[in-house]
Order: sequence, then C-alpha cells, then structure tokens
Amino acid sequence: MTLLTVQNLALDLPLRGGILSALNPKSRRSLQIFADVSFTLNPGETLGLVGESGSGKTTLARAILGLTPTTHGTIHFDQAQRSTPADFTAMRATTAMMFQDAIASLSPRMTIGALLAEPLTIHGQPAPKTKVAEMLALVGLPPDFANRYPHELSGGQARRVGVARALVLNPKLVIADEPTAGLDVSVQGEILNLMTDLKTRLNLSYLIISHNLAMVRHVSDRIAVMYLGRLVEIGPTRQTFARPLHPYSQSLIASEPLPDPRKRRQDLAIKGEIPSLLNRPKACVFQGRCPHVQPICRTDPPTLREISPARFVRCHFATPTGALS
Ligand SMILES: Nc1ncnc2c1ncn2[C@@H]1O[C@H](COP(=O)(O)OP(=O)(O)O)[C@@H](O)[C@H]1O
Ligand code: SF4
Ligand SMILES: [Mg+2]
Repeated sequence: MTLLTVQNLALDLPLRGGILSALNPKSRRSLQIFADVSFTLNPGETLGLVGESGSGKTTLARAILGLTPTTHGTIHFDQAQRSTPADFTAMRATTAMMFQDAIASLSPRMTIGALLAEPLTIHGQPAPKTKVAEMLALVGLPPDFANRYPHELSGGQARRVGVARALVLNPKLVIADEPTAGLDVSVQGEILNLMTDLKTRLNLSYLIISHNLAMVRHVSDRIAVMYLGRLVEIGPTRQTFARPLHPYSQSLIASEPLPDPRKRRQDLAIKGEIPSLLNRPKACVFQGRCPHVQPICRTDPPTLREISPARFVRCHFATPTGALS
C-alpha cells in the first residue's frame, strides 16, 4: 500500500495578457508549470526528486500539499483522495514541508520555542514547554535554545530547528526542499545524518527535492528526474545511477562531479541552456537538447512507461539496456 499516490497532476497558470486577452477570453494564454506528473511513495521510503533549477520541483511540492491549486489530476495520501481545502488541511497535519530557508524566513521576533510551538497551536493542539524541549532534544539542541532568536543561530543550528519544526506534529511524510542548500559540506553531512537517523526512529517517509545529485543519491531509495515540468525517469537509485535510461538523466548523471574529474563523461555532458517554461518544446520536452532526437520526438509526446520492472522512462527510444533504439 502506498502512502502517497500522485496521478496525472498538472498545473497551468493564467498568463496576464494585454488588452487583447481582456477583450477576447479565447486568446488568454496560460503557462504550464508541470503536467502528467504521476508517481508513488511507499511508507518508510525516501524518494529523491532531482532536476535543474526552474524545472518545477518546488511548485510540485507545494501542489502536493495543497498550497498551490492544480489544474488536473489526483492526489491520494494515506488511502484518501485529497482535493478540497479541508482535505489538504488534514493532510498537512501529517505531512510536513521543510523549506530550505525555513527558519530564516520565519518571524525574527519569535523565539525558537514559539516557532516550535506554532504548528501545534495552528492545528489546535496543546503546546507545552516540555514538547518544545523534547523537539530540541530530538534534533540534538540544548533546551535553552527555546529562548533564542533565529538570528542567534548558525546555519546548521537553524536547519536543525527547521527539522524539529517539521516534525513537531508527528508527520508520516516530510517533504524537504533543498534541505542542505547553502550549508558547508561538513554541516550538510550532519543534517543528512540527522534526517536519516530520525527517519528510522520515527518511521518517516521522505520526498527529498534537490538539484544536488550526489546528496540525493546518498539518501534516496528511488529517484525521480524532472525536466521542464515533466517526470522523465523514475527508478531505484542504484540502478538509475548505474544505468540511466533517459537521455536527460544520462547527461545529468554524466556531468555529476566525480572525486576523480578525469573520469567524468564529458562526451555525455548536457549541452545548451534549459529553455524557459514559456518556450517549452511541443511533444518531447527534451528535444532541443537531446543528442538522439528524431522527427517523431517533435510531433508525438512520449509517455512515462515502465520499460523494465520498477523503471519508468519518458522517451520514444529508451531501452532497458540504456542504449537508445
Ligand atoms: N505562481 C507562479 N506564477 C508564475 N510563475 C510561476 C509560479 N510558480 C512557479 N512559477 C514558475 O515555475 C517555474 C518552476 O519553478 P520552481 O517550482 O521554483 O522550480 P524548481 O524548484 O525546480 O527550481 C519557474 O520558472 C517559476 O518562475
Ligand atoms: S523522445 Fe526523442 S527527443 Fe525525447 S528524449 Fe527520447 S530520443 Fe530524445
Ligand atoms: Mg526549488
């Protein structure tokens, strides 16, 4: 049984047009942020969502939590479909979003204690001091941190408070958006170890979003690769890194920095800039940068299909061996 099932999710945002669109509603244009997004997340699993900046990862995460409305598709969490605002409010009591700058973006005038108590009061639950102390201990911070203010914390301490705040409602799922971005490498490791440790202790599931492939590879059971608002590949982490099947995943993984730079596969490194969503190509979204592009890629959109057990790929020519047919 899955914890989260997302099916055919799409989001189109109306573009503010000029006078023409005001006079003629038919000429109103919209910007598709993402479309045809389908994936599942199992209890206790960590799914890593990777893709270049601007591919729609954060917006998708917000949509899954009902913080951004969607245009099509369904979201099931914990066996129940989530569609109304009340459904999503209930879901957010058991799903936490950990933003990159969670603590920095919160009110600088609230103490850490008040920040940790806030999710409880928002959801109408008691917020005793003992709970705040318990949450601080869980993330390895001393109890007197409850009286401190966000600006008094180091980057790593602030991130720990972010983890504590995400966990205060005892969630089943944590969606972590760029959880280690902006941290020194040693602190990144500390935060990942903390998250991994808490996952086992509290029986959590994670959706970890990042453009940092090495980090996602380290912590994820499966990975999903996003390109310009489409999931182009989903599969078990080890197999996907060993033998990526989609040309985009192949270039992304080939251009990942290796401990020995001489081993980097320059021949596969991705070429060209990521197009803007306004210029998303029709049919296959990767056609403009794909070394294997064929005429059909410009006319027929590929679907996400399972080409070998548990491995899904959105490309007309992908094969289970990783070679393009
Ligand atoms: N409400 C919105 N209005 C206009 N554009 C938006 C809105 N939300 C997201 N976008 C656009 O969607 C794209 C994807 O953004 P985002 O989800 O932040 O990507 P990522 O997290 O992968 O970097 C960006 O180009 C952003 O400008
Ligand atoms: S469908 Fe065509 S353009 Fe798209 S990734 Fe596959 S080969 Fe490349
Ligand atoms: Mg983002």
